[in-house]
Amino acid sequence: MLMRDELKLLFALSRDYFRNQGHIIDAGCFLGGSTAALGWGLVANERFKAAPRASVITSYDLFTVWGDAAQSYFPEGTPQGADFLPRFRQNVALLGDVLDVRIGDITNSGPPPRPVEILFIDVAKDVRVNDWVVRQFFPTLIPGHSVWFSKITCGPAGMAGYTSRWSILPIISR
Ligand SMILES: C[S@@+](CC[C@H](N)C(=O)[O-])C[C@H]1O[C@@H](n2cnc3c(N)ncnc32)[C@H](O)[C@@H]1O
Repeated sequence: MLMRDELKLLFALSRDYFRNQGHIIDAGCFLGGSTAALGWGLVANERFKAAPRASVITSYDLFTVWGDAAQSYFPEGTPQGADFLPRFRQNVALLGDVLDVRIGDITNSGPPPRPVEILFIDVAKDVRVNDWVVRQFFPTLIPGHSVWFSKITCGPAGMAGYTSRWSILPIISR
């Protein structure tokens, strides 16, 4: 789902920028492309290698097949709603306990970890989820340090992405 350059950016942020003081959010991980890029960056990070710890990356997803675009990643005949959590787990198994996987609608998940150093958002595809993401994650960022990368798609989903830029203003201008 991500372009090669996007994966390289996530890898580089995680390996070179992450201070190992906070957390990394992988919101909308699908089959684990973003998870793998962030995870392999993390395990190559010198500060993490000096003080490894569990549950640094929190990955969120419904883990159920939705829409025609997603269906094309699965064998023909895979029904909408099919569970792809086993395939995700298989793809990122080598990352072990650095992952905290949160299954289901992100808006029903508990409070996010804090502070967040790297915030990757690939889940804000409608206004409801976008609002939740903004309210829950942006207050966890460290002023002057944390980075935020939001994947934007075209159409109504793209609008949700733009909304997130405007809706953080009251938070970041505090
Ligand atoms: C574009 S894909 C993510 C691609 C992934 N980052 C990658 O690297 O391949 C968006 C993901 O968001 C998930 N998603 C959509 N709405 C969600 C929700 N309300 N809660 C949790 N996950 C959701 C979908 O299941 C889907 O896997």
